[in-house]
Amino acid sequence: MEKEVITLLSGRELDKMRRAGQLAAQLLDYLEPMVKPGVTTLELNDAAEEWTQKHGAKSAPLGYKGFPKSICTSVNQVVCHGIPNSKQVLKDGDIINIDVTPILDGYHGDTSKTFLVGQPSAKARKLVEVTQECCRRGIQAVRPEGRVGDIGAAIQEYAEAEGFSVVRDFVGHGINHIFHTAPMIPHYGRRDTGKRLRPGMVFTIEPMINEGTWEVKVLEDGWTAVTRDRKLSAQFEHTVAVTEDGVEILTLS
Ligand code: MF3
Ligand code: CO
Ligand code: CO
Repeated sequence: MEKEVITLLSGRELDKMRRAGQLAAQLLDYLEPMVKPGVTTLELNDAAEEWTQKHGAKSAPLGYKGFPKSICTSVNQVVCHGIPNSKQVLKDGDIINIDVTPILDGYHGDTSKTFLVGQPSAKARKLVEVTQECCRRGIQAVRPEGRVGDIGAAIQEYAEAEGFSVVRDFVGHGINHIFHTAPMIPHYGRRDTGKRLRPGMVFTIEPMINEGTWEVKVLEDGWTAVTRDRKLSAQFEHTVAVTEDGVEILTLS
């Protein structure tokens, strides 16, 4: 994290975060119909880059700490940070997380979804549904004067009750004009622990939920994170703001 202090956004900054968040959600909506057997992850990347530029925005991942592409495409056992590639053709039964982060007027909108390619197995579909519900429950745990641990607890309890595991090595993050900043938002933990949530805080909730072990491994390319047991992983992500009376999702489509 670039700093320890948690920024509280002004109304004007929140407005910019809303616009960036909306653009990010629209970008996922734009890509969704392209997610079909036969498309390559590079084609998805290039469509995203072109759409982003056309809407007056920039792709935050491109060149971020050396990341080579504009979006992350994480297929099946890939947990996150999959790199789009012309040789990677989606096939019937795959699941793919697409993670986009356009920068609009200096502010970041960060969101991701896991899509079904054709007809995945029942267990793959269950993993994707449970992961989406984890994201929803994490968001619902956000309230002013609540604490960061409330979010992880809500996610972990549900994921584990459904027989899945929660990735530890990657967490949600504060986000504003900076892509990744304080606070860190673990997707596991205990209620009534961690930093207190205050109106004006903006961060992501992005649980990665695994079919088998929660342990991950980063491949030789320095980015692609896979499950250690090579079983499936899914993820959903929203950027949210703590409000005076609850939570506002900035990346709802
Ligand atoms: N969008 C990812 C996140 O949710 C970060 C991707 S960083 C990249 O935080 F460099 F891999 F693109
Ligand atoms: Co993201
Ligand atoms: Co994020």
